Amino acid sequence: MARRKTRLILCSGKGGVGKSTVASAIATYFAEKGKRTLIVSSDPVQALSRIFGKKIGDQIARVGANLEALEIDVDKIAKKVEIEYKKLFVNAVASWLDEQTAKSLPLEILSGVNELLALDRIRSLVESGKYDVVVWDTAPTAHTLRLLGLSKRMSEVFTKRFGWIYKLIHPLQTLKSVIIGRKPKLLAGLESLGKTVTRVEQMLADPKTELILVLNPEKLSIFEGKQLREAAETHGITVKRAVINKMLLPCKCKFCSMKRREQEENLKIIKKEYSDLKLLMMPYLPYEILSKEKVKEYAHKLFSED
Ligand SMILES: Nc1ncnc2c1ncn2[C@@H]1O[C@H](COP(=O)(O)OP(=O)(O)OP(=O)(O)O)[C@@H](O)[C@H]1O
Ligand SMILES: [Mg+2]
Repeated sequence: MARRKTRLILCSGKGGVGKSTVASAIATYFAEKGKRTLIVSSDPVQALSRIFGKKIGDQIARVGANLEALEIDVDKIAKKVEIEYKKLFVNAVASWLDEQTAKSLPLEILSGVNELLALDRIRSLVESGKYDVVVWDTAPTAHTLRLLGLSKRMSEVFTKRFGWIYKLIHPLQTLKSVIIGRKPKLLAGLESLGKTVTRVEQMLADPKTELILVLNPEKLSIFEGKQLREAAETHGITVKRAVINKMLLPCKCKFCSMKRREQEENLKIIKKEYSDLKLLMMPYLPYEILSKEKVKEYAHKLFSED
């Protein structure tokens, strides 16, 4: 298989640490360097529209020179799953299965299919050859851990034999499919999902995929960062950088001095815990980063050493 040319950068971390801000800054940085860049979000909260000051939504929109953005609508995908896959199961099961077999079916796997298809959409964009860099602004830790665990769980289900599916399918349907030489629809549908899982796993494990941890100098953020790193590495995703966002600048007031002392202590923990990562420091700015101009400024500060 040809080696992938497009870089995929995931920005992940605890809720509110600055993932969307950092992802937007990284995308802006690459776009300014002349790289064809896409920033994509799988978070139902449409932060990119607010950051870039333009309604983005489920269609790719241009947000700057060399820079496009997309906010994947997971609900829309969920509706497609509801229609396509649930119908396959319902048709196969209807008026046929005994209760015990029905209960033993791993139908819970379908609850993750919409997310799997969202991941597959990102994969198709990464592999389209249209972009040099795709930056993925992920949802907060718990959701990202679920997403990363999802393909593993699904691949366990899909690598098992599909024997149980035949129990679902009425013998007459099975006979018909044997006569016309085509796989039962349910089996074909699930095999196609199995292939999707494999493709997504390959995208994640590709050496051109990298996860950047976004941390605040706070213990909870550090703790979640550790969980994320472990999950990422289980999937073969490279983790070599972390952004330490919202570091307070020196200030004489009592509150800031106390808070800064705490941050300094936590920074020591980060430096010890992540001694093998490149740490990019970012101060706590006295304003929100809610415009293209502010994102540019932020990107220049973040990459001032580059
Ligand atoms: N270094 C910074 N200085 C000041 N404000 C910041 C900084 N980084 C981020 N912010 C602000 O903090 C808020 C949260 O940032 P952002 O939306 O990027 O976080 P997030 O991790 O993506 O949140 P969520 O988990 O909700 O997706 C925003 O208002 C953003 O402008
Ligand atoms: Mg966000």
